[in-house]
Amino acid sequence: MFTKTLAAVTLGALGMTAAAPTREARDVYVPPVLYPHAGTVWFSGQKHNVTWDNSNPPKSISNGAFILLRTGTFETPVVLAHGFDLRAGRVEVTVPEVITGNFSIVLFGDSGNWSDDFLINGVDF
Ligand SMILES: *[C@@H]1O[C@H](CO)[C@@H](O)[C@H](O)[C@H]1NC(C)=O
Ligand SMILES: *[C@@H]1O[C@H](CO)[C@@H](O)[C@H](O)[C@H]1NC(C)=O
Ligand SMILES: *[C@@H]1O[C@H](CO)[C@@H](O)[C@H](O)[C@H]1NC(C)=O
Repeated sequence: MFTKTLAAVTLGALGMTAAAPTREARDVYVPPVLYPHAGTVWFSGQKHNVTWDNSNPPKSISNGAFILLRTGTFETPVVLAHGFDLRAGRVEVTVPEVITGNFSIVLFGDSGNWSDDFLINGVDF
């Protein structure tokens, strides 16, 4: 009985980890990314404002905000911005050195939402 309960708890924990950072019974705020979008071209070293739809923000946003770089369906550990105000609707990021290719960005509030794929011109491989 104990083992069964423990297994259920463990699986539950794993499920949460796989899904996304904290998902609890509060407002889930997942604003759609507006920029960058399909057709956007960035160059390593440039600064750009990532923007998202900040209409209808919940009253309290409890999670830390993060923007990560994504390649295909893989979230890289590259952090473009963190600790900014999700209500602002934009945050300035510096484009990192990457091998030229298609990327997207993931905006994390309570959960994550990502941009279209777009091109970053970095180092040619
Ligand atoms: C994620 O963003 C897309 C538009 O980019 C939007 O249609 C979708 O509703 C968003 N997902 C959530 C869970 O808000
Ligand atoms: C980002 O937006 C802010 C506020 O509008 C502006 O001051 C800043 O110059 C913008 N940065 C870039 C790289 O466009
Ligand atoms: C990026 O994606 C576009 C459209 O799928 C493709 O035509 C292009 O070759 C890709 N660029 C690179 C550098 O992978």
